[in-house]
Amino acid sequence: MRVHDKKVLITGGRRGIGLSIATRLAAEGAVVLLADIEKEACEAAAADLVAKGFDARPYALDVSSEESWQRLAESIAQDVDGLDGLVNNAGVELTSRVTETDLDDWQKVLDVNLTGLFLGTKHMAPLLQATGGSGSAGASVVNISSILGLVGFAEASAYAASKGGVRLFTKSVAMEFAQAGKNIRVNSVHPGFVRTRMTETGAERLAAGGMAEDAESVFRQLQQITPLGRIGTPLDIANGVLFLISDESAFMTGAELVIDGGYTAR
Ligand SMILES: NC(=O)c1ccc[n+]([C@@H]2O[C@H](COP(=O)([O-])OP(=O)(O)OC[C@H]3O[C@@H](n4cnc5c(N)ncnc54)[C@H](O)[C@@H]3O)[C@@H](O)[C@H]2O)c1
Repeated sequence: MRVHDKKVLITGGRRGIGLSIATRLAAEGAVVLLADIEKEACEAAAADLVAKGFDARPYALDVSSEESWQRLAESIAQDVDGLDGLVNNAGVELTSRVTETDLDDWQKVLDVNLTGLFLGTKHMAPLLQATGGSGSAGASVVNISSILGLVGFAEASAYAASKGGVRLFTKSVAMEFAQAGKNIRVNSVHPGFVRTRMTETGAERLAAGGMAEDAESVFRQLQQITPLGRIGTPLDIANGVLFLISDESAFMTGAELVIDGGYTAR
């Protein structure tokens, strides 16, 4: 029960890495609030967790809309009265050559992956400060960046720009909250290649565009360029997030936790 009774909001919580984080935290005693733009799928995911005996609640949220965050803050204040943790996980991918990227597509990636995180931090900070901030380890915000927030990758400039932004947004807010004595820690997590619908969609697109034999061959290539010789699982990432949400990481803020099978160590 490493996060017993902690109330934690996870954006993009209905599937993939977000759902794995919610499941792992719930198994360690947290009350998990799943928020996603896919309302019905989010309700189904929360119902599955409840059926397993966990305390899980679904919320509709478009992370790129300030109004949506304001509505969510009101609902959370009524339903659970404060927050101990926020996992900014919702994200979208884009594989595109920079010279062929539409402004609208560039903007969408930044709106969801970076602006969404700013809005979430802004509107959840009062709830985090009021509840989690009263404990000695403080409240904890975990921002899901990527290895592409650390190193460059061809045909991923919009995604990498958004994830690089997440890295330094995290460090700046960590300094600001520490200086203001808010007792809210803020750290980023940098997953390597993880098999989820997001990466499967990307692999299928590469195969359809004739840039790979099929989706499976893309995953074989990703496996080969990862020093540990395998693709990551959502659980690999969830285990790191559990540590950052728990009081075990009480002396960590503004840090980056890289979970990438060694990809960025070369
Ligand atoms: N899969 C990987 O290899 C990998 C690697 C590094 C980082 N990441 C990051 O991990 C996070 C989770 O990715 P995933 O692989 O589980 O992908 P996924 O596509 O399975 O999950 C993303 C979730 O975000 C939700 N979402 C999208 N736009 C939203 C919006 N505007 N408002 C609210 N919710 C929205 C989706 O509905 C979905 O549930 C993302 O931030 C992604 O960039 C993934």
